[in-house]
Amino acid sequence: MTRTIVISGGTDGMGRAMALARSRRGDEVITLGSNPDKGRDVPHFHRVDLSDVDDTRRVIEAINERWPNVDALLLFANRQAPRRVETKQGLEQTFALYYLSRYLLGKGLRPRLTVNVAGVGVTKGTIHWDDLQLAHGYSMVKAQLQAGRCNDLLGVIQSPGYVLYHPGFTRSGDLTPLPKPLRLAIRIAAKLKGQPIEQAIHPIHDWIDHPPDEPLLAVDRGRKLPLDLPTLRPADARKLAEKTEQLLTSAGTARSR
Ligand SMILES: NC(=O)c1ccc[n+]([C@@H]2O[C@H](COP(=O)([O-])OP(=O)(O)OC[C@H]3O[C@@H](n4cnc5c(N)ncnc54)[C@H](OP(=O)(O)O)[C@@H]3O)[C@@H](O)[C@H]2O)c1
Repeated sequence: MTRTIVISGGTDGMGRAMALARSRRGDEVITLGSNPDKGRDVPHFHRVDLSDVDDTRRVIEAINERWPNVDALLLFANRQAPRRVETKQGLEQTFALYYLSRYLLGKGLRPRLTVNVAGVGVTKGTIHWDDLQLAHGYSMVKAQLQAGRCNDLLGVIQSPGYVLYHPGFTRSGDLTPLPKPLRLAIRIAAKLKGQPIEQAIHPIHDWIDHPPDEPLLAVDRGRKLPLDLPTLRPADARKLAEKTEQLLTSAGTARSR
């Protein structure tokens, strides 16, 4: 059976391995990334800056036109931002890329199955409800953890047909935005303790081939998590969905559909 699979962040790391593997299996794979050099040898590459809301919407429209029925949406795109960067819409980059693009792709493509690859099960970090754009006291780790917790709630918002997946420390990850000493330290740690990419993506193949019965499945490094975790609270998910829509409107980016 040929499936239509959209992969955000499919030009590098786990996403790229997934794109190439599914294409070899005969699936129709649409790959999203921002770097055209990396996109040269992946299937149906679409260049898009997923931290830009308008660009993300443009690519959603392009996909909908040609592939109106998406079987699986696999969400990998992320990038570390050591300093606070604002996008064209005035949003903090990590929030926009790591969380908001995933929100928009899920909502816009309406796939049968979504696999959101992030850090479910992690309880560190928090959502700064009164300062979602981290205008005060920004740090890279704070931004990553906040967007990670938002992605946990996104699973609750956009279920059924949703898998939240924390793959564990993996020998992937574009480290170029990081300072040199940190890059070196992570590379050494990954060599010693990181798992191979193939191992990290293995369960995703199973979910695509045999979609889970549960409306929402949360798997942290091989362990199925209970859904009553504080990080998956439905009231918080509703609050985030509401705040996200307000934000899209007030950023002047909402469009009537
Ligand atoms: N690696 C780990 O140990 C680990 C552990 C737990 C969770 N995770 C999570 O797993 C996911 C995948 O990780 P990975 O290590 O495979 O990442 P990676 O190798 O760094 O790949 C990131 C992907 O995101 C894309 N991307 C970044 N910025 C973009 C933008 N503005 N617009 C469009 N695409 C953009 C990159 O493509 P371009 O360069 O073409 O833009 C690339 O394809 C991430 O969400 C990560 O947080 C990773």
